[in-house]
Amino acid sequence: ATRTPLIAGNWKMNLDHLQAVAFVQKLHWTLKDAKHEDGSVEVAVFPPFTDIRSVQTLIDADKIPFALGAQDVSAHDSGAYTGEISGAFLAKLDAKYVIIGHSERREYHAESDEVVAAKVQASLKHGLVPVICVGETAEDLEKFGASAVPAGQLEAALQGVSPKADIVVAYEPVWAIGSGQAATPQQAQDVCAALRTVIAKVLGDDAAARTRILYGGSVKSANIASFMREPDVDGALVGGASLVVDEFAAIIRFEK
Ligand code: G3H
Repeated sequence: ATRTPLIAGNWKMNLDHLQAVAFVQKLHWTLKDAKHEDGSVEVAVFPPFTDIRSVQTLIDADKIPFALGAQDVSAHDSGAYTGEISGAFLAKLDAKYVIIGHSERREYHAESDEVVAAKVQASLKHGLVPVICVGETAEDLEKFGASAVPAGQLEAALQGVSPKADIVVAYEPVWAIGSGQAATPQQAQDVCAALRTVIAKVLGDDAAARTRILYGGSVKSANIASFMREPDVDGALVGGASLVVDEFAAIIRFEK
């Protein structure tokens, strides 16, 4: 299967809406003539909720070829859920993707596998593509090896998902996030292959062949190519390095 690589920048809680607009403009200019312009690599940015409207307006006005995503979504459509953001609202702002179950939300907001599964359903219902994040902690790695925890998290998140659904999976070992200590390409490949097997088991072979699986955790311009050479790694979910224009541009311009 040929899967279009996806380079995704998760800004986390960084850049206000004015900084966001300046950043996206600068990134776009830095990338003029890069390969994402011809669709051979997809670029997506995931700003904070308060930036999404401004970034969407800019992308639309300047025809910037970046997809837009949110970092979370409510499991509910509307109603008395103070502080929550509906997938319907995100879809109206032309958001394409939504990150679900990032380890920071699992840890700081106690998001269980059930909550993650409900948010996957909510995003699909509103036509958003969920970027389902899974990954083991250092402790899990020691106790269970690398694949068991992420595979279990993915299986739970895929309950009730249609085999035809458009989804993305992100493997992010928690110990590699923001630590400067990325997984090795072989470690990433082994877990991404195991996750593809989970997709095949739950959603079937077509879905497994089609679905993009990203690696995340201390990705930078110096290591992106080594991950992209692995057959089951279809892109990257980038945190810190997605906030530095030249670094993120160099990641997008990776050469295998
Ligand atoms: O969602 C992105 C990840 O948590 C990776 O963050 O690139 O700063 O390690 P990082």
